[in-house]
Amino acid sequence: MSQLDHRSPSCIAANVLAGQSREMLQRHFNCSARWVVAAPGRVNLIGEHTDYNGGFVLPMAIDRYTVIAAAPAEFPPADSAEVFSTEVGACSRIRLNEPMERGNVSWVNYVQGVVAGCVRQGWSVPPFRAVIHSNVPLGGGLSSSAALEVATATLLEAISGKSLSLVDKALLCQKAEHTFAGVPCGIMDQFSSAMCEAHRLLLLDCRSQEFELVPFTDPDVQVVIANSNVKHELTGGEYARRRSECEQAAGVLGVPFLRDASLAQLESARDRLDPVAFVRARHVISEIDRTVAAAQSLRAGDWKTVGELMYASHASLRDDYEVSCAELDLLVEIARSIGLDGGVIGSRMTGGGFGGCTVSLVRAQAVPHFISELTRQYRQGTSIEPTVFATQPSQGAMNLSDHAPGVA
Ligand code: GLA
Repeated sequence: MSQLDHRSPSCIAANVLAGQSREMLQRHFNCSARWVVAAPGRVNLIGEHTDYNGGFVLPMAIDRYTVIAAAPAEFPPADSAEVFSTEVGACSRIRLNEPMERGNVSWVNYVQGVVAGCVRQGWSVPPFRAVIHSNVPLGGGLSSSAALEVATATLLEAISGKSLSLVDKALLCQKAEHTFAGVPCGIMDQFSSAMCEAHRLLLLDCRSQEFELVPFTDPDVQVVIANSNVKHELTGGEYARRRSECEQAAGVLGVPFLRDASLAQLESARDRLDPVAFVRARHVISEIDRTVAAAQSLRAGDWKTVGELMYASHASLRDDYEVSCAELDLLVEIARSIGLDGGVIGSRMTGGGFGGCTVSLVRAQAVPHFISELTRQYRQGTSIEPTVFATQPSQGAMNLSDHAPGVA
């Protein structure tokens, strides 16, 4: 557990939101914050749709946070908390005792799901009032839901004086997403939000759940996120379908996870595999290899190879896994056409797909020109305004309460 550096850019970013949340808590509920916590969104550099196949991923936390400021409720309805979301502009009641059920409001489900997980551990959570405030774009593929889940878990740790290991905390949040939001996600998003650190990428082995923090400190290389600002329907169903296609392929190959198969094994089983399951498995197995290779190249400062692996990842997600879309393809093509001469090292779609964001690595000096060219050409090609911004590997979940010792 590292000591929190309050002067780091990510802490400053979280503290700005924390100040606003304290103010909102005062205004909305007329009480001063006793607890303030923050958890970030994430962007994945490479290793897409590999987590639920037991493979490797290489994400980082971004300097966009979901912050929750909270206070004990003075006249408590003993079994509930009142939570106000500044983004939605609405307040909701969260049950603190059984029965806790999935409701119709998605942001409430994430909070309720995490509370249910903590209560299941035997924690007793006293009534509280809270304000949730976030600058992680909603539904943009930057894990706004994991940020909310991990922030909620961090808040409940602070309120109840208990603590979970980072792995248990991430798994509790993943379970909340499965059971209360109905999304059968892997473990990447919650692990990133819980355990990432500033200046580091998280190389996570999703089979063993062991991880390594890989330094990302070259001042000449920046991470740029481009939000296509499109979100195509069917995402939930398509995600679950990809998972079952992968399980089907693993079953035919006789391995527990696609992680356990090689491309040669897959090739020799081609006749026994459904053609769709074959290409899905080809993406996953090759993507796992690319992720390991990217981490190695990154350590060696071989940016050219990292960039090539990113483009290859995008092509595989587009052609074999079929989770890209015209808008994401266009963003990647524009980045590629600006190219190494224009300071672009590599680019690919990131997250679940069907819209959302691309991630690009760009030479520091070239970032302003890259942002303006990408914005201009994307707008011209789609009539949609993208949101493009540089970010940096940031600190995972934090307890920012006045009396808190440091990193959550
Ligand atoms: C979503 C899921 C993750 C992961 C990615 C694809 O973000 O929540 O678990 O599967 O898609 O890599």
